[in-house]
Amino acid sequence: MSAPPVGAVGREHPRLEGRDKVTGAARYAVEYPVADVTYGWAVPAAATRGRISRIDVAPALAVPGVLDVLHHGNAPRLAPGVDRTLFLLQEPAVHYRGEFVAVVVAESIEAAREGARLVRIDYDTEAHSTVLSEHHPGLYRPEKVNPSFPTDTADGDFDAGFAAAEVRVDATYRTPAYHNNPMEPHATTAQWADGRLLVQDSNQGSSPVQATLAQLFGLPQESVRVVAEHVGGGFGSKGYAKAAVVLAALAAKQVGRPVRLALTRQQLFGPVGYRTPTIQRVRLGADADGRIAAVCHDAISQTSTLHEFTEQSAVYTRSMYAGPHRRTTHRVVRLDVPTPFWMRAPGECPGAYALESAMDELATGCGVDPVELRVRNDPTVDPERGQPFTSRNLVACLREGARRFGWADRDPTPGARRDGRWLVGSGVAGSSYPARARAAAAAATAAPDDTFEVRINATDIGTGARTALWQVAADALDVPVERVAIRVGDSDLPPAGVAGGSMGTASWSWAVIRACEGLRDRIRDHPGGAVPAEGLTVEVSTADEVRAQPARPRYAYGAQFTEVRVDADTGEVRVGRMLGVFAVGRVVNPTTTRSQLIGGMTMGLSMALHEEGLLDERYGDWVNHDLATYHISVCADVERIEAYCLPEEDPELNPAGVKGLGEIGIVGTAAAIANAVHHATGLRVRDLPIRLDKLL
Ligand code: MOS
Repeated sequence: MSAPPVGAVGREHPRLEGRDKVTGAARYAVEYPVADVTYGWAVPAAATRGRISRIDVAPALAVPGVLDVLHHGNAPRLAPGVDRTLFLLQEPAVHYRGEFVAVVVAESIEAAREGARLVRIDYDTEAHSTVLSEHHPGLYRPEKVNPSFPTDTADGDFDAGFAAAEVRVDATYRTPAYHNNPMEPHATTAQWADGRLLVQDSNQGSSPVQATLAQLFGLPQESVRVVAEHVGGGFGSKGYAKAAVVLAALAAKQVGRPVRLALTRQQLFGPVGYRTPTIQRVRLGADADGRIAAVCHDAISQTSTLHEFTEQSAVYTRSMYAGPHRRTTHRVVRLDVPTPFWMRAPGECPGAYALESAMDELATGCGVDPVELRVRNDPTVDPERGQPFTSRNLVACLREGARRFGWADRDPTPGARRDGRWLVGSGVAGSSYPARARAAAAAATAAPDDTFEVRINATDIGTGARTALWQVAADALDVPVERVAIRVGDSDLPPAGVAGGSMGTASWSWAVIRACEGLRDRIRDHPGGAVPAEGLTVEVSTADEVRAQPARPRYAYGAQFTEVRVDADTGEVRVGRMLGVFAVGRVVNPTTTRSQLIGGMTMGLSMALHEEGLLDERYGDWVNHDLATYHISVCADVERIEAYCLPEEDPELNPAGVKGLGEIGIVGTAAAIANAVHHATGLRVRDLPIRLDKLL
């Protein structure tokens, strides 16, 4: 018997702010009471590529309550930055349909909306190109892929290894555009006073948003304050400053009053970033026992004419399975489309769909069980970098998942199980996500009454981050959690990085622990070992410590198991069971951990069966722009879902011993479902989503 946990870390706890959220006491970006506030409404371009030739704002200004209409001809000037996507209302050029070209500001939201409807814009249009294809003449090799991985890699001799293999898979997988739909849209309240800009903004990192606004508006960083206390999700789309905050700040400057601006649900489909469509060719060559000799993953994606963003889809394949002959490539094309950006596990998510599907095809080709195939190809060192992993528990996840799922009884023959009109099948996929950490600063204060306050500009986008940090802080201070208060979500707090890349808790807990340790030392060293009336504060940065961390391969792992049934007559797919087993380092809070993992898995189900941005080439835009036409899985789509974490201690990670877990839940899930559909029907669908018409 192991001893029960003595501290706060490892214990279930509901979100600290949960009650405030459900009672409406928690303020989101456009809910702060602000005197003299006005409302902004963004106007999207109705052309795909070209220039604004004429803009007539008179009908909009005639609406009672409309104060102003901002556009390229009159808006305050911005300093062009790295990402031209944010250079809004500065020039007449239109780069994609839906790009924001004007903002109406009014005394009421209704007047702003009506004014936006009445802004008359004429365009000189040019021919556009908006459809991704492997034959597009504009495909090129980018310098790097998101965020800074090498574009291509090669080891051994793939062509020779593949040609000599006994069993070969050569398959091309396609994924459509996917759109981030957080509950809270991108939304901002902006106000200027004495040359300083204050924004309450819905984002995943106030420190980076502060830096971007300072750059765009030519201000010193300390003249910009960004508050993001409560954020209703982001999935990556709020990882950097986006249109809403820039437009709100421009509008507030123009009218000299505070402005609230929230994008509509429809306006999220494109301008805030989306997951690029991908075309991925995967080739696997193996011996008759399924041992991989050659692996190649060629990924194609799109970016915009404004800014290069290349989804790193093939990077997953660089470290996942063994094999001496390897190659990965990325190619991208600039289309007249919005700039794609992060969406939960950019790279790993589409990449794992392709590789884990190909692994299933290889299992079938070799006649090897797909769990066993993955076990056989588990590398002892990182296959490209040659270094040992800090910890790698993929095999343990596969074994534990197989046991819990009841995999051993599975008849591998496709179409062998039938339950009335349903064809029943099961599938598996591996899963991994990098365990990163970035530098952060944090402060901890002790009060004479033995209470403590910990401050860090972390962002809690609904994941439970502030609760996890509070638990970590209590243990680092060695006091009961009740004596600790945590403050996050304000650029006036010690700076910290983005809630993204599944590195929030790892990065922030590092700084929190160091600040709390420093504070304990300070209290101990203080004369009498007591806290003086004015309190004691320690602020630290982990910059040096994080930089000194040896570069070793660090990943979280998982195994995803699913059972599906397919209606033999209609092709309808239902997911009866999803089961994931994950190795994510130490689990700080089992409650919020489970929520993150099953949330990611549900989003993977959504990707497999429902989500699809349908582009109409004539207009160069997606035709499904809302939650009625862009289908996202709901609770009723998930009949039984389970997520388990293996105990995992990895002392090389960070002081809290955590690996990120916000994204791994979506990695491999779509492949596990596609593989189960193949097992149920014998049909291999290689272009998502698996709509019923593809199964008939
Ligand atoms: Mo995540 S897509 O890095 O917010």
